[in-house]
Amino acid sequence: MDNDIKKELMIVIFGATGDLTKRKLIPALFQLYKKNNISTKNPIVCISRSDMSNDNFISRLDMKKYIPKVTKDDLDDFIKLIKYHSLDFSENCNIDKCESCDNCKTLAMAINTLDKNNQCHGNRIFYLATPPSTFENISRIIRKTLPENCKGQMKIAFEKPFGFDLESSRKLNKSISTIFNEDEIYRVDHYMGKALVQDILLFRFSNLLYEQVWNNKFIDNIQITISESMGVEYRAGYYDKTGAIKDMLQNHLMQLLSLVAMDEPQSFNAVHVRREMSKIPTSLKLPHKNDLVISQYKRYLDNKNTDTSYIEEYGVSNKSKTETFVALKMEIDNNRWRGVPIYVRTGKRLKSTFAEMNIVFKDVSCKLFPKGTCYNNSSNTITIRIQPDTGIALSFNIKKPGPGLEIMPVKMDFCHHCLFNLNTPKAYEAVFQAIINGDQTIFTSWDSVESSWKYTDHILDIAKNKDLSYYGPGSTGPKEACDLLGASGRKWIN
Ligand code: BG6
Repeated sequence: MDNDIKKELMIVIFGATGDLTKRKLIPALFQLYKKNNISTKNPIVCISRSDMSNDNFISRLDMKKYIPKVTKDDLDDFIKLIKYHSLDFSENCNIDKCESCDNCKTLAMAINTLDKNNQCHGNRIFYLATPPSTFENISRIIRKTLPENCKGQMKIAFEKPFGFDLESSRKLNKSISTIFNEDEIYRVDHYMGKALVQDILLFRFSNLLYEQVWNNKFIDNIQITISESMGVEYRAGYYDKTGAIKDMLQNHLMQLLSLVAMDEPQSFNAVHVRREMSKIPTSLKLPHKNDLVISQYKRYLDNKNTDTSYIEEYGVSNKSKTETFVALKMEIDNNRWRGVPIYVRTGKRLKSTFAEMNIVFKDVSCKLFPKGTCYNNSSNTITIRIQPDTGIALSFNIKKPGPGLEIMPVKMDFCHHCLFNLNTPKAYEAVFQAIINGDQTIFTSWDSVESSWKYTDHILDIAKNKDLSYYGPGSTGPKEACDLLGASGRKWIN
């Protein structure tokens, strides 16, 4: 995309009073504004159902809280871009009458006037930070509010989840494909915008050292963890219907796995990268009941833990069986990975917040070393730390100083944030920047979404016939998650 088009652009956010807009989207747009990647010529239209004034909306954004170290001057300039607009885009809104509906007419008028005044030339990004049940309706409203013969570039971004299951996602995709072209559609998975996640492909394919051994001949197992100390907070309404499998496994964990396991793409362009990535969820073997652990956090009265149980959280049903933790043993059925167990886990209200991947290499033969000096837990491991302490570490063995041949595991550790912290864009900043640039590489392709839902639906079926286990809030997760690896003599790498 050339610079002029970047300058002539309007951003329209649906779901503007939602938490994501306040905590992530507006702060990300602010950072782009500070870096001059958007300017005062780029209006940010914020739409939600509530009727309120622009000033009221801006104060609800609470920008001083969510944008670190922001100054009043910076804010005064930035808020001039924000234009609040209320609109009923619920399922009840009759889209067929949209053109004659006053609500939509005023929205169309407001957008088109802003476009004219700021010379946006019809270039628009629509970001849907709303539940998937509203996607189709909003997409139709958007189409109907665009002037005929609009020549600008149109992009529409859908926040995850894209559908609730395979059937609903297929239905949704079919209908939005009749409204927009695939090159206008951006299915967001913000994990793909994280710096270390973006590093994975380069790390694998620009270093001769690793790619040659990135297969079942050398790798013993792969572990992917997204651990959160936060509970469900104010999102119980969404989370209690969703659970960890749909909230995290279907999307973030699946995208991370796809990046770490995919074959070399023909090039780094969006078509080639997304084509290779989408082959991973399709190649997954269907797991067995014993490969899945579902769990919920629960305080144990006997050990004086005063933390809240999940079912005591505000908005959660006291009979809820929703899993707040999932661990799964997966396997990719292709020549590169057949036989390598892939362990993934994620949960809420755990001991700490971090996301990382561990690629654990096979043990060397111990036959060279005296008995008792060669340990099974000293194999080479590559650790990709996605957050918070971003970096990549390689564990390897050295000789412990002194007489004898004792092996000692040590680490070479690259600290990403020490080197780049100030310049590293946060995930949603990278997401917006990629949409502005018209680069779909970090957005999930339909093939990926579809095969990932297919697999997830199967996991959900297994989960229906499984008992939920429990873990203490603030712990590292349920014992059953350790047993998942323990059965084969392996351990989670912490
Ligand atoms: C979201 C999930 O997609 O990702 C949340 O809906 C989760 O439940 C969040 O907390 C985690 O993202 P991050 O960037 O904070 O690790």
